[in-house]
Amino acid sequence: MLRGTQRVNEKGHLTIGGVDTVDLVKQYGSPLYVYDVQHIRDQAKAFQSAFSKYPSLTWHAAYASKAFSSIAMVQLANDLGLSLDVVSGGELFTAMKAGFPAKSIQFHGNNKTIDELDYALNVNIGTIIVDNFYEIECLEYLCKERQKPVNILLRITPGVEAHTHDYIMTGQEDSKFGFSLVNGAAEEAVKQVMNSTYLQFRGLHCHIGSQIFDTEGFKLAINNIYKYLSKWKKELDFSCEVLNVGGGFGIKYNNDDQPLPISTYIDAIVTTVMAESDAHQMPIPEIWIEPGRVIVGEAGTTLYKLGSSKTIPGIRKYVSVDGGMADNLRPALYQAKYEAVLANKASAKDTEVVTIAGKCCESGDILIHDAKIPKSESGDILAVLCTGAYGYSMANHYNRLPKPAVVFVENGESKLVIQRETYEDLIRFDCSYSQEPTH
Ligand code: LLP
Repeated sequence: MLRGTQRVNEKGHLTIGGVDTVDLVKQYGSPLYVYDVQHIRDQAKAFQSAFSKYPSLTWHAAYASKAFSSIAMVQLANDLGLSLDVVSGGELFTAMKAGFPAKSIQFHGNNKTIDELDYALNVNIGTIIVDNFYEIECLEYLCKERQKPVNILLRITPGVEAHTHDYIMTGQEDSKFGFSLVNGAAEEAVKQVMNSTYLQFRGLHCHIGSQIFDTEGFKLAINNIYKYLSKWKKELDFSCEVLNVGGGFGIKYNNDDQPLPISTYIDAIVTTVMAESDAHQMPIPEIWIEPGRVIVGEAGTTLYKLGSSKTIPGIRKYVSVDGGMADNLRPALYQAKYEAVLANKASAKDTEVVTIAGKCCESGDILIHDAKIPKSESGDILAVLCTGAYGYSMANHYNRLPKPAVVFVENGESKLVIQRETYEDLIRFDCSYSQEPTH
């Protein structure tokens, strides 16, 4: 059940990165997000070593910062040799403040505003992943105004949607993202950008889904794309320099999840691209990927303090934590399943089956159904595992709960990377309505 550098020390406490989690709560309070930096490094290295089997290939792995964006995380991604995927002006601003090289940033999104595109062009962003015809028009205008070109990929929907173990072939796609291959929108977009003076058309992008546990969806998407690449080579003399196959590599939240080793996904992607390029007598394009969850997901743990509990005889026992759907929306939003460890009694036997409830004023605020933990009491520390992706990044202020702090741990040391919000922070942007302001 434990991941990365998580261990149990002689006191029976959960440690991460050699740091006692009970001490972390004493020092930084709770709830607290803790990131195992070594685990993040190992995940990034796994991509490097998977691609290193193909020395003639040019490849780039971008960290999809929507999974967890903060200045420290973006700096770490840079140290690890990853490029960066951003999906908003806010994520781009974070990257710029972190000192991330703009040339290694890719900008995504189905409705980038003019202001966001303007900002991206001003910082000389590496690549814009163009999603729709309106965006082509906006970029043409903005680049012309500046007399400056920009590198672009076109996001296409390849007719494949992958969910965990299943993939779905969608004939006519129903998606808010990208240009459809099957209905001809992608071909129209290719023609438009091939004729553009300012849009430097480097290739295609697709993203087939998230938390994917097999390679079939990736292979099918690539096969489909090459059918069109071959047609466009003949009819339009188009040659694809870059093929970005997105992110979506799965992680193990619990025992039901059976993700593949990173190298298995990469081998499948690379060998399919190579075989298709060979079959169609095309040069092998650069292969780009953009994982988010698999880089940070298992590295993150949320520490909570237990407070009240309630036993309903014959039904269940609720044990409540001092956070909930405000810091982890995924159980309420997606029925996501997590595992937990009682961090201050980590070597004790699991003797209770309890429902871990959040503190928000909503019956649906349940973090874990039927969690197996040792006998617990208020004041104990509960560690919910695998909360590193889409946890802090989807955190909210429901019930006016301040967002927790985030710490990085490594080699026995901890470092605060996002401060805990205060009540004052919560009202920072409130404006008074009464004549005599109360704050
Ligand atoms: N590239 C694109 C274009 C994406 O849309 C996404 C995720 C990624 C890369 C990164 O995917 P990953 O490797 O993290 O699976 N909030 C949801 C996940 C939404 C994913 C959105 N796009 C969750 O908590 O499960």
